Amino acid sequence: MSNENLKTVLQEKRTFQPQDHFQKNAKIQSMEAYKEKYRESIENPEEFWANAASELHFFKKWDRVLNAENPPFYRWFEGGKTNICYNCIDRHLDSATRNKAAIIWEGEPGDEVVLTYADLARKVNQLANGLKKLGVQKGDRIAIYLPMIPELAISVLACARIGAVHSVIFAGFSADSISDRINDCQAKITITSDGVWRKGKKLLLKNIVDEAVKKCPSIEKNIVVKRSHKDHFECAMDENKDIWYHDLIENCSLSCPAEEMDSEDMLFLLYTSGTTGKPKGIIHTTAGYMLYSYYTSKYVFDLQPEDVYWCTADIGWITGHSYIVYGPLANGATCLMYEGAPNAPHKGRFWEIVEKYRVNIFYTAPTAIRTFMKWGEDWVNKYDISSLRLLGTVGEPINPEAWMWYHKVIGKERCPIVDTWWQTETGGMMITPIPGCTTTKPGSATFPFFGIDATILDKDGNEQDTGFLAVRKPWPGMLRGVYGDEERFKNTYWSQWENIYFPGDGARRDEDGYFWILGRVDDVVNVSGHRIGTAELESIFVSHASVAESAVIGIDHEIKGQAMVAFVSLREGNEGSDSLIEELTQLVIEKIGKFAIPERIIFTADLPKTRSGKIMRRLLRDIAEGRAVGNVTTLADAGVIDALKEKYQED
Ligand code: PRX
Repeated sequence: MSNENLKTVLQEKRTFQPQDHFQKNAKIQSMEAYKEKYRESIENPEEFWANAASELHFFKKWDRVLNAENPPFYRWFEGGKTNICYNCIDRHLDSATRNKAAIIWEGEPGDEVVLTYADLARKVNQLANGLKKLGVQKGDRIAIYLPMIPELAISVLACARIGAVHSVIFAGFSADSISDRINDCQAKITITSDGVWRKGKKLLLKNIVDEAVKKCPSIEKNIVVKRSHKDHFECAMDENKDIWYHDLIENCSLSCPAEEMDSEDMLFLLYTSGTTGKPKGIIHTTAGYMLYSYYTSKYVFDLQPEDVYWCTADIGWITGHSYIVYGPLANGATCLMYEGAPNAPHKGRFWEIVEKYRVNIFYTAPTAIRTFMKWGEDWVNKYDISSLRLLGTVGEPINPEAWMWYHKVIGKERCPIVDTWWQTETGGMMITPIPGCTTTKPGSATFPFFGIDATILDKDGNEQDTGFLAVRKPWPGMLRGVYGDEERFKNTYWSQWENIYFPGDGARRDEDGYFWILGRVDDVVNVSGHRIGTAELESIFVSHASVAESAVIGIDHEIKGQAMVAFVSLREGNEGSDSLIEELTQLVIEKIGKFAIPERIIFTADLPKTRSGKIMRRLLRDIAEGRAVGNVTTLADAGVIDALKEKYQED
């Protein structure tokens, strides 16, 4: 969290109690009820999770809820057989939910698709059969590089149906990032589209995949969705390797039995940035993830049968996996899915959509809220958004000012706000209010979810008010590993303390026990809720022939939360220039994608280092943020996160 925000958070005293109109129909209506359920979940986790899992369909019941014999390799629901696609679709087909909208989709140009659960079943089954026709088998990896169109959700579900492991790659990543991810997991198939609309412009995704798969010998086929209907996206098709999605599914049967998966069979991989150069493939498995995404959606969104629920994330990130596809559909909810940008074609687009579909639950990122603040209330007030009953945020700390704006301008002081802290690795929400019972404080993620034994520790494992966030008990949605790198899994998450999960965030607990998440303590920067490893960028810069060394840091940014500033020192005989900045920027676009471009690139003769040769990032942050350069910080002031970072990085 930025220093400015941190200051306001440390002074924040306002509280907001659940209001009667929400509380009276809520699933959990009092703090006593939350506390009782929380106590059960911590004292008897196996019984608690077994009861929760009995709400879902298992082809064969598990023999054991939790196997904790070999930490950190925890196993949940061993011996059980289930299928998450079956639970998201088939489980609803014998009830009235069958003909309820599962996905309401709106394209950026305004085209619409509504799929009921029965429609979704047909489409998913057809594609599942199409994948089988291509020889896809249980356990095969499939890379999905699609925009926010219904086929993205359908593809994810079709993979899950036949037990293929999906690896969704956000459609803003470059060809190089795609090939890295494909090669890491040896994916066999890609699913992409000819293109996508982005702010009225055509983006030719298939061309990017073509470029990527030149370096991916494991790829056998590319399946291509025709996103363009009337308009033409230029797209070359190789007759041996490329196949149109609509041709593939033509004549495929509408019925494909769901594969009976072992509880711990791999469900998906999702790559995320860490402190070292290479993104890691986070592994999630079947039953535990299914239960956790289902259960958190149910209680944190307080899903009611008639709700229209909208999460504005992209399915390319974990938020979209857990809270556009799996969690809400496992609950039989109606999910809205929007293809485009919030300002296409105008800045009121989101509120226009809320009005049009009478959205009840809205889940977005603080960076989006700050952008709406900048655009001004008039854009919101043009529309009737009175259908909203619950608001949520995710992805980065929310500053109290943005929280208050959300509360007043969007929530009309009527809607509870759930500020949900979690990560790609956690599978689902970990620290979050439960609307209807939790009194909220602007900027605080409040209390742990059921079964989450969260605390704050120092490096040595002693409990503190301010320090490193830690999770002491395993939970069903937890990551099961880093693909192909057991050591990295152990080192990154489990080496700080014994058998305690280390998320990499700093946190503070106030006198009422509320958790306040302060931000990353490692070298991961959170730009607009996108996690970027500074080491990833640094290695890109030093790959340029003119660059000797580079240090990338995160600094406060009014809208994005954090922005990156790159300090670059050049090799002898080179000079910093605008054209070199341009070259370095292009390199970032090529290697990662536009969203990873640093805010500024600063050429410097030298980087400040300690005697042992470590780059003093805090000094660079002071310089970049225009502060007096100093090194006196105490835990109680706004330098707390810097101080935590230093502690974390101490040898
Ligand atoms: O630093 C925390 C921040 O986002 C990180 C996880 O990023 P990612 O794996 O991309 O997942 C984002 C969506 C779940 C965390 O380590 N973060 C996420 N939510 C919050 C947050 N920081 C503060 N408050 C939150 N509500």
